[in-house]
Amino acid sequence: MILIVGGAGYIGSHVNKALNEAGYETIILDNLSYGHKESIKWGTFVKCDLADVNKVDEIFTKYDITAVMHFSSFIDVGESVTNPEKYYYNNVVNTMNLLHVMLKHDVKKFIFSSTCATYGIPQKIPLVEDHPQNPINPYGMTKLMVEKILHDYDEAYGLKSVILRYFNASGADKTAEIGEWHNPETHLIPLILDAALGKREDIKIFGTDYDTPDGTCIRDYIHVTDLADAHIRSLKYLEDNNESNQFNLGNGLGFSVREVIESVKNVTGRDFKVTETTRREGDPAILIGSSEKANKILGWNPQYTNIDQIVETAWKWHQKLNQE
Ligand code: UFG
Repeated sequence: MILIVGGAGYIGSHVNKALNEAGYETIILDNLSYGHKESIKWGTFVKCDLADVNKVDEIFTKYDITAVMHFSSFIDVGESVTNPEKYYYNNVVNTMNLLHVMLKHDVKKFIFSSTCATYGIPQKIPLVEDHPQNPINPYGMTKLMVEKILHDYDEAYGLKSVILRYFNASGADKTAEIGEWHNPETHLIPLILDAALGKREDIKIFGTDYDTPDGTCIRDYIHVTDLADAHIRSLKYLEDNNESNQFNLGNGLGFSVREVIESVKNVTGRDFKVTETTRREGDPAILIGSSEKANKILGWNPQYTNIDQIVETAWKWHQKLNQE
Protein backbone atom coordinates (compact mmCIF):
# COMPACT_ATOMS: atom_id res chain seq x y z
CA MET A 1 0.00 0.00 0.00
CA ILE A 2 1.08 3.57 -0.62
CA LEU A 3 0.81 6.05 2.25
CA ILE A 4 -0.18 9.55 1.14
CA VAL A 5 0.58 12.08 3.84
CA GLY A 6 -1.49 15.18 3.17
CA GLY A 7 -3.79 13.32 0.79
CA ALA A 8 -6.73 15.61 1.62
CA GLY A 9 -4.90 18.59 0.16
CA TYR A 10 -4.81 20.00 -3.35
CA ILE A 11 -1.96 18.03 -4.94
CA GLY A 12 -2.25 15.01 -2.62
CA SER A 13 -5.90 14.42 -3.55
CA HIS A 14 -5.10 14.44 -7.27
CA VAL A 15 -2.21 12.01 -6.74
CA ASN A 16 -4.52 9.80 -4.66
CA LYS A 17 -6.90 9.59 -7.60
CA ALA A 18 -4.08 8.84 -10.05
CA LEU A 19 -2.61 6.12 -7.82
CA ASN A 20 -5.98 4.40 -7.48
CA GLU A 21 -6.55 4.61 -11.22
CA ALA A 22 -3.12 3.04 -11.73
CA GLY A 23 -4.15 0.11 -9.50
CA TYR A 24 -2.38 1.04 -6.25
CA GLU A 25 -4.06 0.80 -2.85
CA THR A 26 -3.73 3.99 -0.81
CA ILE A 27 -3.93 5.10 2.81
CA ILE A 28 -4.45 8.79 3.38
CA LEU A 29 -3.00 10.38 6.49
CA ASP A 30 -4.12 13.97 7.09
CA ASN A 31 -4.85 16.12 10.13
CA LEU A 32 -7.40 18.12 8.09
CA SER A 33 -5.90 21.40 9.29
CA TYR A 34 -5.93 22.70 5.73
CA GLY A 35 -7.08 19.67 3.73
CA HIS A 36 -10.72 18.71 3.18
CA LYS A 37 -12.30 15.38 3.96
CA GLU A 38 -14.50 15.80 0.87
CA SER A 39 -11.34 15.63 -1.27
CA ILE A 40 -10.58 12.07 -0.12
CA LYS A 41 -12.62 10.05 -2.58
CA TRP A 42 -10.33 7.03 -2.84
CA GLY A 43 -8.40 4.84 -0.40
CA THR A 44 -8.51 4.45 3.38
CA PHE A 45 -8.50 7.62 5.45
CA VAL A 46 -6.82 7.94 8.86
CA LYS A 47 -7.01 11.30 10.63
CA CYS A 48 -3.61 11.83 12.20
CA ASP A 49 -1.08 14.57 12.86
CA LEU A 50 2.58 13.86 12.16
CA ALA A 51 3.42 15.33 15.57
CA ASP A 52 1.69 12.25 17.06
CA VAL A 53 4.56 9.80 16.47
CA ASN A 54 2.83 6.96 18.34
CA LYS A 55 -0.21 7.15 16.09
CA VAL A 56 1.96 7.30 12.97
CA ASP A 57 3.77 4.24 14.29
CA GLU A 58 0.43 2.39 14.75
CA ILE A 59 -0.48 3.12 11.14
CA PHE A 60 2.79 1.59 9.94
CA THR A 61 2.19 -1.44 12.16
CA LYS A 62 -1.37 -1.95 10.94
CA TYR A 63 -0.90 -1.48 7.19
CA ASP A 64 1.56 -3.02 4.79
CA ILE A 65 3.09 0.24 3.58
CA THR A 66 5.69 -0.08 0.82
CA ALA A 67 6.23 3.59 -0.07
CA VAL A 68 5.34 7.04 1.25
CA MET A 69 4.42 10.22 -0.60
CA HIS A 70 4.62 13.35 1.53
CA PHE A 71 2.53 16.40 0.61
CA SER A 72 1.61 17.87 3.97
CA SER A 73 3.33 21.17 4.50
CA PHE A 74 2.53 24.80 5.07
CA ILE A 75 2.99 26.76 1.84
CA ASP A 76 2.31 30.44 2.48
CA VAL A 77 5.62 32.17 1.75
CA GLY A 78 4.63 35.46 3.43
CA GLU A 79 3.48 33.71 6.59
CA SER A 80 6.74 31.74 6.70
CA VAL A 81 8.57 35.07 7.03
CA THR A 82 6.41 36.36 9.89
CA ASN A 83 5.99 33.02 11.67
CA PRO A 84 9.00 30.83 10.77
CA GLU A 85 8.56 28.54 13.77
CA LYS A 86 5.25 27.29 12.40
CA TYR A 87 7.07 26.40 9.17
CA TYR A 88 10.23 24.83 10.58
CA TYR A 89 8.18 22.84 13.06
CA ASN A 90 5.66 21.44 10.66
CA ASN A 91 7.67 21.20 7.46
CA VAL A 92 10.93 19.97 8.99
CA VAL A 93 10.35 18.48 12.46
CA ASN A 94 7.14 16.67 11.50
CA THR A 95 8.79 15.34 8.35
CA MET A 96 11.60 13.98 10.53
CA ASN A 97 8.96 12.21 12.66
CA LEU A 98 7.59 10.57 9.55
CA LEU A 99 11.06 9.51 8.36
CA HIS A 100 11.83 8.20 11.85
CA VAL A 101 8.82 5.87 11.77
CA MET A 102 9.57 4.83 8.20
CA LEU A 103 13.10 3.79 9.18
CA LYS A 104 11.79 1.91 12.20
CA HIS A 105 9.48 -0.10 9.94
CA ASP A 106 12.07 -0.48 7.21
CA VAL A 107 10.02 1.45 4.64
CA LYS A 108 12.62 3.02 2.38
CA LYS A 109 10.84 4.56 -0.57
CA PHE A 110 9.86 8.21 -0.25
CA ILE A 111 8.50 10.80 -2.67
CA PHE A 112 8.82 14.35 -1.44
CA SER A 113 6.99 17.50 -2.53
CA SER A 114 9.64 20.16 -2.84
CA THR A 115 9.52 23.45 -4.66
CA CYS A 116 11.27 25.75 -7.09
CA ALA A 117 11.38 28.16 -4.12
CA THR A 118 14.47 26.19 -2.99
CA TYR A 119 16.43 27.84 -5.84
CA GLY A 120 15.88 31.42 -4.66
CA ILE A 121 16.67 34.11 -7.23
CA PRO A 122 17.42 32.37 -10.54
CA GLN A 123 20.85 32.91 -12.05
CA LYS A 124 19.77 31.33 -15.31
CA ILE A 125 16.38 30.53 -16.84
CA PRO A 126 15.10 27.87 -17.35
CA LEU A 127 16.07 26.47 -13.98
CA VAL A 128 17.79 23.09 -14.07
CA GLU A 129 18.11 20.70 -11.14
CA ASP A 130 21.75 21.50 -10.38
CA HIS A 131 21.14 25.26 -10.22
CA PRO A 132 22.43 26.55 -6.83
CA GLN A 133 19.82 26.37 -4.09
CA ASN A 134 19.69 29.58 -2.03
CA PRO A 135 16.12 30.06 -0.81
CA ILE A 136 15.11 33.62 0.03
CA ASN A 137 12.38 32.77 2.54
CA PRO A 138 11.84 30.28 5.40
CA TYR A 139 9.29 28.29 3.37
CA GLY A 140 11.88 27.49 0.69
CA MET A 141 14.47 26.84 3.40
CA THR A 142 12.26 24.23 5.11
CA LYS A 143 11.97 22.33 1.85
CA LEU A 144 15.72 22.56 1.20
CA MET A 145 16.46 21.30 4.71
CA VAL A 146 14.34 18.21 4.10
CA GLU A 147 16.13 17.69 0.78
CA LYS A 148 19.48 17.71 2.67
CA ILE A 149 18.12 15.34 5.32
CA LEU A 150 16.99 12.96 2.58
CA HIS A 151 20.46 13.02 1.04
CA ASP A 152 22.05 12.06 4.36
CA TYR A 153 19.41 9.40 5.16
CA ASP A 154 20.09 7.75 1.82
CA GLU A 155 23.85 7.65 2.50
CA ALA A 156 23.46 6.38 6.05
CA TYR A 157 20.29 4.25 5.98
CA GLY A 158 19.63 3.54 2.32
CA LEU A 159 16.35 5.46 2.36
CA LYS A 160 15.67 6.17 -1.31
CA SER A 161 13.78 9.30 -2.29
CA VAL A 162 12.53 11.12 -5.32
CA ILE A 163 12.43 14.86 -4.71
CA LEU A 164 9.95 16.67 -6.93
CA ARG A 165 10.39 20.43 -7.20
CA TYR A 166 7.06 21.84 -8.30
CA PHE A 167 6.68 25.10 -10.12
CA ASN A 168 3.20 26.73 -9.93
CA ALA A 169 0.69 23.92 -9.42
CA SER A 170 -2.60 24.90 -11.00
CA GLY A 171 -5.82 23.66 -12.62
CA ALA A 172 -8.10 20.87 -11.42
CA ASP A 173 -9.07 17.33 -12.26
CA LYS A 174 -10.89 17.39 -15.61
CA THR A 175 -14.07 15.91 -14.12
CA ALA A 176 -14.04 18.65 -11.43
CA GLU A 177 -14.65 16.11 -8.66
CA ILE A 178 -11.60 17.50 -6.85
CA GLY A 179 -9.65 20.74 -7.26
CA GLU A 180 -7.79 23.61 -5.62
CA TRP A 181 -9.41 24.52 -2.31
CA HIS A 182 -7.25 26.67 -0.06
CA ASN A 183 -8.44 28.70 2.86
CA PRO A 184 -7.16 31.39 2.92
CA GLU A 185 -6.45 31.52 -0.81
CA THR A 186 -3.28 33.32 -1.93
CA HIS A 187 -2.70 31.84 -5.40
CA LEU A 188 -3.16 33.85 -8.54
CA ILE A 189 -5.52 31.70 -10.63
CA PRO A 190 -8.20 30.98 -7.96
CA LEU A 191 -8.07 34.63 -6.89
CA ILE A 192 -8.73 35.78 -10.45
CA LEU A 193 -11.55 33.23 -10.70
CA ASP A 194 -13.05 34.73 -7.53
CA ALA A 195 -13.00 38.11 -9.26
CA ALA A 196 -14.70 36.54 -12.30
CA LEU A 197 -17.39 35.13 -9.99
CA GLY A 198 -17.86 38.54 -8.38
CA LYS A 199 -16.66 37.21 -5.02
CA ARG A 200 -13.87 39.82 -4.97
CA GLU A 201 -14.16 43.37 -6.12
CA ASP A 202 -10.94 43.17 -8.14
CA ILE A 203 -7.73 41.28 -8.83
CA LYS A 204 -4.57 43.05 -7.85
CA ILE A 205 -1.41 42.82 -9.96
CA PHE A 206 1.55 42.84 -7.60
CA GLY A 207 4.09 44.89 -9.55
CA THR A 208 4.08 46.13 -13.14
CA ASP A 209 7.70 47.29 -13.28
CA TYR A 210 9.49 43.94 -13.51
CA ASP A 211 12.05 43.32 -16.21
CA THR A 212 9.64 41.24 -18.31
CA PRO A 213 7.92 42.04 -21.63
CA ASP A 214 4.70 43.34 -19.99
CA GLY A 215 6.24 44.33 -16.65
CA THR A 216 4.47 41.62 -14.61
CA CYS A 217 5.95 38.45 -13.10
CA ILE A 218 6.27 35.34 -15.21
CA ARG A 219 5.58 31.92 -13.70
CA ASP A 220 5.58 28.33 -14.94
CA TYR A 221 2.02 27.05 -14.38
CA ILE A 222 1.92 23.27 -14.29
CA HIS A 223 -1.34 21.34 -14.27
CA VAL A 224 -2.03 19.27 -11.17
CA THR A 225 -2.97 16.20 -13.25
CA ASP A 226 0.44 16.38 -14.94
CA LEU A 227 2.01 16.61 -11.48
CA ALA A 228 0.02 13.54 -10.42
CA ASP A 229 1.30 11.63 -13.44
CA ALA A 230 4.90 12.54 -12.48
CA HIS A 231 4.31 11.01 -9.03
CA ILE A 232 3.20 7.69 -10.49
CA ARG A 233 6.27 7.69 -12.72
CA SER A 234 8.51 8.54 -9.75
CA LEU A 235 7.08 5.66 -7.76
CA LYS A 236 7.75 3.27 -10.64
CA TYR A 237 11.25 4.74 -10.92
CA LEU A 238 11.91 3.96 -7.24
CA GLU A 239 10.43 0.47 -7.60
CA ASP A 240 12.51 -0.29 -10.69
CA ASN A 241 15.81 1.43 -9.86
CA ASN A 242 15.90 1.77 -6.08
CA GLU A 243 17.93 4.95 -6.29
CA SER A 244 17.37 8.54 -5.23
CA ASN A 245 16.86 11.38 -7.68
CA GLN A 246 15.51 14.93 -7.99
CA PHE A 247 13.33 16.43 -10.72
CA ASN A 248 11.86 19.80 -11.61
CA LEU A 249 8.21 19.67 -12.53
CA GLY A 250 7.20 22.60 -14.67
CA ASN A 251 5.91 22.84 -18.21
CA GLY A 252 8.87 24.88 -19.42
CA LEU A 253 6.63 27.75 -20.48
CA GLY A 254 6.09 30.99 -18.66
CA PHE A 255 2.99 33.14 -18.47
CA SER A 256 2.86 36.66 -17.07
CA VAL A 257 0.28 37.79 -14.52
CA ARG A 258 -1.39 39.86 -17.25
CA GLU A 259 -1.52 36.84 -19.58
CA VAL A 260 -3.16 34.73 -16.90
CA ILE A 261 -5.75 37.47 -16.27
CA GLU A 262 -6.47 37.66 -20.03
CA SER A 263 -6.84 33.89 -20.16
CA VAL A 264 -9.40 33.96 -17.33
CA LYS A 265 -11.34 36.68 -19.16
CA ASN A 266 -11.33 34.58 -22.37
CA VAL A 267 -12.25 31.30 -20.73
CA THR A 268 -14.97 32.64 -18.42
CA GLY A 269 -16.33 35.28 -20.80
CA ARG A 270 -16.52 37.63 -17.81
CA ASP A 271 -15.01 41.00 -17.13
CA PHE A 272 -13.77 42.26 -13.78
CA LYS A 273 -11.69 45.03 -12.30
CA VAL A 274 -7.88 44.76 -12.45
CA THR A 275 -5.92 46.97 -10.06
CA GLU A 276 -2.21 47.59 -10.50
CA THR A 277 -0.37 47.80 -7.22
CA THR A 278 3.13 47.55 -5.77
CA ARG A 279 5.36 44.49 -5.80
CA ARG A 280 4.85 41.69 -3.29
CA GLU A 281 8.02 41.09 -1.31
CA GLY A 282 10.16 38.12 -2.32
CA ASP A 283 8.79 37.62 -5.84
CA PRO A 284 11.46 36.85 -8.47
CA ALA A 285 10.60 38.38 -11.88
CA ILE A 286 10.71 35.07 -13.76
CA LEU A 287 10.51 31.45 -12.64
CA ILE A 288 10.53 28.87 -15.40
CA GLY A 289 11.72 25.32 -14.97
CA SER A 290 13.40 22.95 -17.33
CA SER A 291 11.72 19.56 -17.15
CA GLU A 292 14.14 17.95 -19.56
CA LYS A 293 15.47 15.63 -16.86
CA ALA A 294 11.99 14.42 -15.86
CA ASN A 295 11.22 13.90 -19.53
CA LYS A 296 14.41 11.95 -20.18
CA ILE A 297 14.45 9.78 -17.06
CA LEU A 298 10.77 9.46 -16.11
CA GLY A 299 9.35 9.80 -19.64
CA TRP A 300 7.19 12.64 -18.28
CA ASN A 301 5.51 14.87 -20.81
CA PRO A 302 3.00 17.45 -19.50
CA GLN A 303 -0.31 17.40 -21.38
CA TYR A 304 -1.72 20.76 -20.30
CA THR A 305 0.74 23.17 -21.84
CA ASN A 306 -1.52 26.04 -22.69
CA ILE A 307 -2.77 28.43 -20.06
CA ASP A 308 -6.37 28.40 -21.36
CA GLN A 309 -6.56 24.61 -20.90
CA ILE A 310 -5.31 24.95 -17.33
CA VAL A 311 -7.72 27.79 -16.55
CA GLU A 312 -10.67 25.88 -18.11
CA THR A 313 -10.27 23.00 -15.66
CA ALA A 314 -9.77 25.40 -12.73
CA TRP A 315 -12.89 27.38 -13.75
CA LYS A 316 -15.08 24.26 -13.96
CA TRP A 317 -14.03 23.24 -10.46
CA HIS A 318 -14.22 26.77 -9.06
CA GLN A 319 -17.81 27.17 -10.21
CA LYS A 320 -18.72 23.84 -8.62
CA LEU A 321 -16.97 24.75 -5.36
CA ASN A 322 -18.85 28.01 -5.22
CA GLN A 323 -22.08 26.38 -6.41
CA GLU A 324 -22.59 28.79 -9.22
N1 UFG B 1 0.01 37.60 -7.88
C1 UFG B 1 -0.64 38.80 -8.16
N2 UFG B 1 -1.82 39.04 -7.50
C2 UFG B 1 -2.35 38.18 -6.59
C3 UFG B 1 -1.67 36.96 -6.33
C4 UFG B 1 -0.49 36.71 -7.00
O1 UFG B 1 -0.20 39.61 -8.96
O2 UFG B 1 -3.41 38.49 -6.03
C5 UFG B 1 1.25 37.31 -8.62
C6 UFG B 1 2.44 37.04 -7.70
O3 UFG B 1 3.07 38.25 -7.35
C7 UFG B 1 3.29 36.12 -8.57
C8 UFG B 1 2.26 35.36 -9.42
O4 UFG B 1 1.06 36.12 -9.33
O5 UFG B 1 4.06 36.89 -9.43
C9 UFG B 1 1.98 33.96 -8.89
O6 UFG B 1 1.69 34.05 -7.50
P1 UFG B 1 1.19 32.83 -6.62
O7 UFG B 1 1.02 33.34 -5.23
O8 UFG B 1 0.02 32.18 -7.28
O9 UFG B 1 2.38 31.79 -6.71
P2 UFG B 1 3.90 31.98 -6.31
O10 UFG B 1 4.66 31.96 -7.61
O11 UFG B 1 4.19 33.10 -5.43
O12 UFG B 1 4.11 30.74 -5.37
C10 UFG B 1 3.90 29.41 -5.74
C11 UFG B 1 3.43 28.62 -4.55
C12 UFG B 1 4.43 28.68 -3.45
C13 UFG B 1 5.76 28.26 -3.96
C14 UFG B 1 6.12 29.02 -5.20
C15 UFG B 1 7.36 28.47 -5.78
O13 UFG B 1 2.23 29.18 -4.09
O14 UFG B 1 4.04 27.81 -2.43
O15 UFG B 1 5.08 28.90 -6.15
O16 UFG B 1 7.30 27.12 -5.69
F1 UFG B 1 6.72 28.56 -3.05
